[in-house]
Amino acid sequence: MQRIELRGLILAGGFATRLRPLSCSKPKLLFPIVGVPLVESMARWLSSGGVDKIILAVNHLSDRLKIEVGHRVGGVTVAFSVEEMPLGTAGPIRLAANLLSKDDPFFAINGDIVSNIDIRGMLALHEEKKADATIALVSVLDPSPYGSVTTDSDGIVRKFEEKSAVPSATGRVNAGVYVLSHGVVGSIPVGRCVSLERDVFPKLVRNGRMRAWIHDGFWYDIGRVSEYVRANRELLAKQELKAGEPDERQNGRQIIWPTYLGTKARLGVGAKVGPLTILSDNVTLGDGAIVRNSIVFEETTIGEKTIVEDAVIGERVVIGRGSRIGSGSIIAGQLSIPPGSVVSPNSVIFC
Ligand code: GTP
Repeated sequence: MQRIELRGLILAGGFATRLRPLSCSKPKLLFPIVGVPLVESMARWLSSGGVDKIILAVNHLSDRLKIEVGHRVGGVTVAFSVEEMPLGTAGPIRLAANLLSKDDPFFAINGDIVSNIDIRGMLALHEEKKADATIALVSVLDPSPYGSVTTDSDGIVRKFEEKSAVPSATGRVNAGVYVLSHGVVGSIPVGRCVSLERDVFPKLVRNGRMRAWIHDGFWYDIGRVSEYVRANRELLAKQELKAGEPDERQNGRQIIWPTYLGTKARLGVGAKVGPLTILSDNVTLGDGAIVRNSIVFEETTIGEKTIVEDAVIGERVVIGRGSRIGSGSIIAGQLSIPPGSVVSPNSVIFC
């Protein structure tokens, strides 16, 4: 049978409490991943696997998402399904039933995943095995924040335990990427908060209807600041160095690669950037400013001779001249930090 459209529903209505204060006014899907908004990075990945349309299941900060994402991103068309109240991870799928094809399987994906999971392979396995759900699994060093999954030798999921204290023997966990058959949608109760992980999957597992797809490429869940930073640093380090310019000097400016400079990023005379630094679009560094091992969101200004190291600076922050931002700090909330400020290591500052 000819498939008309392959759809991917991205669960993006959570409050991203673990990314606060960076997420207070900026939805997780707009967080930059090496300069590209997460939603665009996810759309490109899904599009490369044949997905033509994504449905963003949102509530918190949905107006900003609608304005900034629009109707098309990363090669796919976009539809929004807006909840009046949070419906958990399964409720939004039921709410969006009309936007999903009645016959074809679709992808449901947590809106904080950066990965290269083989979408086509996963769908092919799902269809070949006639599963109700196929779940991508990844191996992580610390499985405790994730759903622990045990499979049998045929790849059928035999145990699914959300945030288990006892990890599965293989250490494999739920990667937050699923293929679901349309029948699963009908099994989700209407109009209330329902969890895929706690309510829907355990029943599918009991009936032997859930398959596993083992992924061994890259995978990041950027839902915690530490993981968000790790994803950016590792992906930045993987990018090819600018040919012949590992250490670029020009007008006293110094860029140490790997470093990402967004469009219209401006560096003052004698400014030093890098290594492992991401300056998003429209970031300005004053003369003699130094930024190392840090992520700076859009439209932020770092004053003359200010030093920023191992920090994450949110969007539209202004850091006055001659300041020093201690390692491990996070500054957000579109704050203005007065000139000459000394921010102690590991500070979290917002308004
Ligand atoms: P924390 O508050 O830090 O736990 O973040 P979160 O709720 O945004 O993320 P979590 O990892 O707990 O949830 C996994 C995914 O499901 C995330 O992409 C969330 O945006 C999404 N999600 C969680 N709850 C809801 C909800 O009620 N509605 C929708 N549409 N998505 C949700």
